[in-house]
Amino acid sequence: MGTNQKQILKHILSNTDYSMDNSSRSLISLEGLDRNDILGLLRQAATFEAKPDRKILDGKVVATLFFEPSTRTRLSFETAVNRLGGRVIGFSDAATTSSSKGETLKDTIMMVSNYADLIIMRHYLEGAAKYASEISPVPIINAGDGANQHPSQTMLDLYSMLKTQGRLDGLEIFLVGDLKYGRTVHSMLTAMRFFNPTFHFISPEELRMPAEYKEFCRENGIRFTEHSEFNENVISEADIIYMTRVQRERFTDLMEYERVKDSFILRNDMLAGTKPNLRILHPLPRVNEISQDVDSNPKAYYFQQAKNGLFVREALICNALNLL
Ligand code: CP
Repeated sequence: MGTNQKQILKHILSNTDYSMDNSSRSLISLEGLDRNDILGLLRQAATFEAKPDRKILDGKVVATLFFEPSTRTRLSFETAVNRLGGRVIGFSDAATTSSSKGETLKDTIMMVSNYADLIIMRHYLEGAAKYASEISPVPIINAGDGANQHPSQTMLDLYSMLKTQGRLDGLEIFLVGDLKYGRTVHSMLTAMRFFNPTFHFISPEELRMPAEYKEFCRENGIRFTEHSEFNENVISEADIIYMTRVQRERFTDLMEYERVKDSFILRNDMLAGTKPNLRILHPLPRVNEISQDVDSNPKAYYFQQAKNGLFVREALICNALNLL
């Protein structure tokens, strides 16, 4: 870690208030968190980055139920539990579980809550995590529900912005790609409403930000512009470029997917005139939307971003279990 990064971490540790409403420990979306809650969790993430290995979860069992594929989210949550001294049960392929025999989500949640203190769940149905939280005796962390929300991803995105920009307030954030199905960009709008951002939505016509999220921006005084072009001029004022994958699995018409999948590709030569503080984020996985030659550009931050997920998820787990 460079000196500047260390100074920013020190700044985060000393300048954020922490307060959380303890009434519900589940994390389904970021709607229930206010500015202090978010900054408090980011401050906790910074403390875990400074010291990731602690025995806070001694005796605790955490279940990871992944009804959809995942690399980063599941493995970083499981690493977080391991680094905190807890134990993990769960599955990464629902085909190997009794849901393939017709067991309902309700019954699965009721069973697993007999065994675990916390359930981290990814599901292909929007609203599945909220439903699970309503019936579960133990807290639920939503690790992504369909095209709806991905709150832990957003928390690590905010942590990455805070670390690289030294602030969350007043950023020019360019969201690029699949804004229709991209749950990470939907969650980000929710969280950033406290930080006076200007969003720039860049997508093909078919994948524009849904009307309900634009209405959310208007209601919350969030400035936004929409673009159907992606070039050097459009991104020249960006603090953050947040690239997203066009999600094949969400399309009912695969012809439409083929038509739009390579609409917007970030190439290294497009970054020459961008601001020095610009950082490129991507929740990953990447397909074609960021050229490989961007990886060695100092403005590329997506691999460090994924690493930040570990520290943020350590904080989220401890918060869900009321251990902080
Ligand atoms: N960003 C993200 O959710 O990645 P995975 O699908 O690999 O978990």
